[in-house]
Amino acid sequence: MRIAAGVGPGFAQVVVLVGATGDLSRRKLLPGLYHLVSGGFIPGCRIIGVSLDAIDAEQFRAFAREALDQFSSRTVDEERWATFAKALDYVSLAAGPQVLKAAVEAAEAMLPGESRRIHYLSVPPSAALSAVRLLGEAGLVERSRVIMEKPFGTDLASAALLNARLHEVFSEDQIFRIDHFLGKEPAQNILAFRFANGLFEPIWNRNFIDHVQIDVPETLALGKRTGFYEQTGAYRDMVVTHLFQILAFMAMEPPTALEPRSISEEKNKVFRSMLPIDPNFVVRGQYVGYRAEEGVDPESDTETFIAVKCLIDNWRWAGVPFYLRTGKRLAEGQRIISIAFREPPKSMFPVGSGVGAQGPDHLTFDLADASKMSLSFYGKRPGPGMRLDKHSLQFAMHDTERIGDVLEAYERLILDAMRGDHTLFTTAEGIERTWEVSMPLLEAPPPVRLYAPGSWGPKSIHQLVAPHAWRLPFERAWRDPNPAGG
Ligand code: BG6
Repeated sequence: MRIAAGVGPGFAQVVVLVGATGDLSRRKLLPGLYHLVSGGFIPGCRIIGVSLDAIDAEQFRAFAREALDQFSSRTVDEERWATFAKALDYVSLAAGPQVLKAAVEAAEAMLPGESRRIHYLSVPPSAALSAVRLLGEAGLVERSRVIMEKPFGTDLASAALLNARLHEVFSEDQIFRIDHFLGKEPAQNILAFRFANGLFEPIWNRNFIDHVQIDVPETLALGKRTGFYEQTGAYRDMVVTHLFQILAFMAMEPPTALEPRSISEEKNKVFRSMLPIDPNFVVRGQYVGYRAEEGVDPESDTETFIAVKCLIDNWRWAGVPFYLRTGKRLAEGQRIISIAFREPPKSMFPVGSGVGAQGPDHLTFDLADASKMSLSFYGKRPGPGMRLDKHSLQFAMHDTERIGDVLEAYERLILDAMRGDHTLFTTAEGIERTWEVSMPLLEAPPPVRLYAPGSWGPKSIHQLVAPHAWRLPFERAWRDPNPAGG
């Protein structure tokens, strides 16, 4: 077993996983915990599943095994699984706080030395506060940290109330509000790229950058999530959360140190500088057929697509539009940040040379786990005369020998929370400000426009970015980083 020295928590952990039989737990949390435990990242760990389901520990183990078989990105090793399975226990919510407390204490007694508690609340916002109260009543606040899942409220007032109620039980330093986009390797690579190199930061501003696109189209439909999604919609599900967090990494000033307070401070400054979202610069869409899906109101006004123009009113970014787009059942699944540079005066090139014909130079980040980066530029076409073509320099994480070391976003963030490291988590202040800038849109949303499944959204998206154009679909595909398939 590989012991990941220096990156794990110093203490053994008892994980109370509330919402243990839910979708996120199945897809990400149980496979992620299996990897962290069996990969030797945690000195000792026991996991207590908690949910409304009346099942026992054995049934929970079977559930976990099925989840791993279906969703783990790595092969499940039988020996490691056997050890992991023994660390799983289950308490039904109906059993009450005392039974939960007894289960946690029993788990602690089985772990070597001193241990810490981590409560993962993978439940909808309406259930989050009762889970917090349960933990309080069970006396499980001490030596513990709590990971909260989004959405953190549904508007400014509910977010402020949620924070106030949370603070009655847990102190801010115990709370880890998870936004899994920040746990993605390439999101952290934005910080490395910007601040570990002398080349890019001097041009990272309004003098050189024309506009930015953060574009996360998804091909996925909603499946069993319609109940959640009807109340949430694309803006609350993706923009006020993931896309704003990525925007903050992209736009923030250099932090004074790579530590939580400095990073949160700079991110929050970006949020404070954001102009309130103007509904006139928002396109809301809904795919044709959504209203006929199970659990959806036949007259639903929920958007399954959103495109937003954001402005950051500070010295670095004044006048540079940030276009954010995301939606379900779109033409392609992509997660990109695309930075378009200002174009030079092209006077010396003859008419028809092709300069500028393929848009401005771009720096593009792909936010997939195995991330990629590309810098496009004009170069001379070989041969006589001066014809110009667009080329690109590309880097893929596959080019390093460490692609196997990438932790999935949830794994990385769970490990950070166990270590008490808030760097990649969001703060109460940041969350409240992102809701505050959202209020004009939430109060007066433009009507939803229908779009065909498999398209890029309603037609009006083109007006939103004019005179620019959406970068996706790419004119040229990414270079295949692994052409031999090996
Ligand atoms: C989740 C949203 O937070 O992020 C989903 O609730 C979305 O609607 C998902 O599909 C996208 O995450 P990823 O990691 O697959 O890009």
